[in-house]
Amino acid sequence: SHRPTICYRHMQPSDLEALERIHADIFPIRYESEFFQSVVNERDIVSWAAVDRSRPNGQSDELIGFVTARIVLAKETEIGDLLRYDPSKPDQTLVYILTLGVVETYRNLGIARSLICQVIKYASRIPTCRAVYLHVISYNIPAIHLYKKMSFKCIRRLQGFYLINGQHYDSFLFVYYVNGG
Ligand code: ACO
Repeated sequence: SHRPTICYRHMQPSDLEALERIHADIFPIRYESEFFQSVVNERDIVSWAAVDRSRPNGQSDELIGFVTARIVLAKETEIGDLLRYDPSKPDQTLVYILTLGVVETYRNLGIARSLICQVIKYASRIPTCRAVYLHVISYNIPAIHLYKKMSFKCIRRLQGFYLINGQHYDSFLFVYYVNGG
């Protein structure tokens, strides 16, 4: 069978349409158009795109996967208390993963793993950064498997964290420490 040539690059304004479509297809939660604008313009958000260079018909630069994240001040987050607090470093940061997705036909090829690796590498290079963290809905087995396999630690279960179509769902909080965090 055909083996795709997956490449990773930064997000760009021309990714807007595909980014919105894929989010709508794979997430139960709706995102504001302002969020997508921030992602493709990398305004307050860092993101990586996966594309298949071997795709024909001008699709070789079309998004097939993505990860989006935001840098946050550790002390302003719910996990600030978990990090060794150092009063001499009040500017400690964390990288919070907002969304991660791979289009269905490209799953189980290690693309999500590579996207998460990009985030971890990026976070490790920020001297003030102590961890990468994220929330995942408790029934999302593929994502939970992925984070566990990548040595993220599940540190909390949050009751009713998500509200989807009037129904509450729990979430797990996963953390990957960097820079001795
Ligand atoms: N069942 C069990 N384990 C799985 C599955 C699955 N269906 N899919 C992936 N994994 C695990 C495997 O153990 C795999 O490890 P291995 O390669 O050693 O076997 C590991 O995850 C890495 O798999 P990838 O191939 O890198 O994952 P993929 O590219 O298929 O993407 C993802 C996984 C992102 C969860 C995909 O299924 C998806 O887009 N789902 C819909 C959107 C979603 O759920 N996103 C994450 C929400 S959480 C958040 O956004 C913060």
